[in-house]
Amino acid sequence: MELRHLRYFVAVADEKNFTRAAERLHIAQPPLSRQIRQLEEDLGVELIEKGTRPVKLTAAGAFFHAHAQELLAKAAELKTMTRRVGQIERTLSIGFVASTLYGLLPEIVRRFRSQYPQVEVAFHEMTTMQQMQALKDGVIDVGFGRVKSEDPNIRRIVLREERLIVALPAAHPRAASSDPMSLVDLQSECLLVYPKSPRPSFADQVLAVLSERAITPLKIVEVRELQIAVGLVAAGQGVAIVPDSVQGMRRDDVVFLPLTDRHAVSPSMFSVRKLDRSEELQNMLAVIYQVYDAAGIGYHRETL
Ligand code: BEZ
Repeated sequence: MELRHLRYFVAVADEKNFTRAAERLHIAQPPLSRQIRQLEEDLGVELIEKGTRPVKLTAAGAFFHAHAQELLAKAAELKTMTRRVGQIERTLSIGFVASTLYGLLPEIVRRFRSQYPQVEVAFHEMTTMQQMQALKDGVIDVGFGRVKSEDPNIRRIVLREERLIVALPAAHPRAASSDPMSLVDLQSECLLVYPKSPRPSFADQVLAVLSERAITPLKIVEVRELQIAVGLVAAGQGVAIVPDSVQGMRRDDVVFLPLTDRHAVSPSMFSVRKLDRSEELQNMLAVIYQVYDAAGIGYHRETL
């Protein structure tokens, strides 16, 4: 059994269809079917139920699928990490969700660059879920996100829990004073949530915070990203719940008010490939803690 067999089987199991799997693998269908038969013969068990369309896995097939996915992710990780270790030019590729740009990310990167000028830093804006795949594909080395998704190949460190706040149009009656709002006040509002996809996303975190208190806004509108949500708030289309750092956006047509609800928080997360303990990542984590110390932000220190 070779890695090729695992890749072929995972494509068939994911696509539930031999034709689509062959297209995805850029091979013809007959050799694909042959390779799957070979794999079943080698293992001495049936992985796919005969004659099923869409393809149905046997119990052994479902077991093999889960473990094959893990092995393929490990193989990809081994490739990217070995390349990294062999690199003479040091690089750090960062995936980030938009809200971190309005908060501490610029300060963290400025410090990192001044302390480690020999490391080239690259940036990719993406959702937390996209960061998980980009880490496994070796596109990024660290992801700064907000959604606590589980993946056996990813190590996730919760850096801190950030308070959530409300973004209101400047003309909103509550915007005249800086008094905090309560989540209950949102029952009479149209709430703009983001990002619409991929899910789960920050939108689900906001909806969970509301449903924990059985609060249903008048209307919920899902939009593609943070900037659209805040732009539509400015246009008077509704209100949005955003992490505290989004105040850094500073717009004249939007007012940000704190929430009285103490459980309304969103985590800032540091995600890396499970076994990656490279120097650049350890240094990046140390710089983040330096910035938290300088800003008087409370956190629970972890090591890689
Ligand atoms: C934070 O706001 O806690 C944060 C933002 C970006 C990177 C790391 C931490």
